[in-house]
Amino acid sequence: MEMSPVSFFALLPWSLCLLFFLTAARPQTTSSAPTHAASPGANTTLLYESGAATSRSLRNCSCSAPVTDCDEVLANSLCRCHSVPRSALPRAGLREAGQLAVWVKELWVLEELLNGSSVGHLRLSFCGIKPVDSRYLALRGLQTLGIHSAVPQTPYPDQEMTLSPPAGVTAELDTLSFGSSSFLHMTFVDVAVLNGLSALKAYSVAGPPAPTLSQHFPLLPVSPPPSDDPAEMAADRLQDLLVTFVY
Ligand SMILES: *[C@@H]1O[C@H](CO)[C@@H](O)[C@H](O)[C@H]1NC(C)=O
Ligand SMILES: *[C@@H]1O[C@H](CO)[C@@H](O)[C@H](O)[C@H]1NC(C)=O
Ligand SMILES: *[C@@H]1O[C@H](CO)[C@@H](O)[C@H](O)[C@H]1NC(C)=O
Repeated sequence: MEMSPVSFFALLPWSLCLLFFLTAARPQTTSSAPTHAASPGANTTLLYESGAATSRSLRNCSCSAPVTDCDEVLANSLCRCHSVPRSALPRAGLREAGQLAVWVKELWVLEELLNGSSVGHLRLSFCGIKPVDSRYLALRGLQTLGIHSAVPQTPYPDQEMTLSPPAGVTAELDTLSFGSSSFLHMTFVDVAVLNGLSALKAYSVAGPPAPTLSQHFPLLPVSPPPSDDPAEMAADRLQDLLVTFVY
């Protein structure tokens, strides 16, 4: 079920926040079939589920050439890949500053690995057949997001969006004494976008310091992900928060 903007707005404490739509975010859609992973030429880390339901593992690949979404045979021939058993995956979330591509058939990879991660550039490809239900995927520091849906006949199979605060927004933040780099950017992606049924939309809210997020957004089941780094935890406490919703 798609979460409508109206139901998001119902969650927001209006008195508190400056709200702006990401007008600079331009979803791009294409209708032609095979598409390629983000930024050909750059080194992309590709993660995808493999193995039978009982012995699930993750393929972890390093690709220097573009790979067609969901083409595991091609990934295995073009990329350097190794398997990681599900039980050996890091629980505290990934940190990936470069390009990360994730191919999803079922949601456990999102749930167990990606949720709460720091990712700069993410391409999420849905390679399954069963439609995905609305749920939030929390990411920090996300700058660009690409969505691919392999669902046949879907009207929006490929979309991209730039999320790092565009120029107009940065000016607004300055007037609120948000330092240009001192805020924590959290993005909540409604994973139902993987169904490719509607154009990607986003809006951002300049919010309170991170620890008060859960007080002010009681219905959002999130808090900033824990960090092992005490310095980072201390910095989080002082940081202002910019929250972007993608749906
Ligand atoms: C990709 O990785 C290889 C080996 O790790 C490195 O030599 C090359 O410079 C990288 N290319 C880019 C564009 O980062
Ligand atoms: C994938 O492999 C790279 C390089 O081998 C490693 O740095 C990274 O932590 C791995 N990621 C996962 C989720 O296993
Ligand atoms: C991510 O974590 C939050 C908080 O635990 C949870 O509510 C949400 O459903 C998770 N998202 C996914 C895609 O698993």
